Amino acid sequence: MKIRLALLLSLSLATAAHAEEDSVAEVWTAKCKSCHGPDGRAQTQMGKKEAIVDMSQPAWQQAQTDADIREAIADGSPRNKKMKAYKDKLTPQQIDALVAYIRGMKKG
Ligand code: HEC
Repeated sequence: MKIRLALLLSLSLATAAHAEEDSVAEVWTAKCKSCHGPDGRAQTQMGKKEAIVDMSQPAWQQAQTDADIREAIADGSPRNKKMKAYKDKLTPQQIDALVAYIRGMKKG
């Protein structure tokens, strides 16, 4: 009986974690992919036109702190108005999830 309960619990936890993953991927797809591409490599029309950085590059990943990434998403880019501030459109939790999602794009 105890084992069954533990199994049920871990199953529902796994489902919850998965739902979280889906929702950040959905946010990325809905709000970021058009410019940054599905994988953050910015191989899009906008990405090429605006020379958006390839977020999968280890060098870029290393040069950014989580705070840098969070700030770019929350406040937009001071260098390029195409990168808008998302702090009024996304919750702090969603922005944190996006930072982690972008970290996951690192190659290799
Ligand atoms: C309309 C196009 C567009 C959309 C949509 C967009 N971005 Fe951007 N983003 C840009 C551009 C252009 C830059 C480059 C800014 C610069 O050069 O300073 C940028 C830069 C960034 C950077 C900083 C990269 C660097 O230069 O170090 C991050 C992080 C980022 N975007 C995340 C996001 C996230 C997360 C979303 C979705 C919530 C998003 N962007 C949606 C156009 C866009």
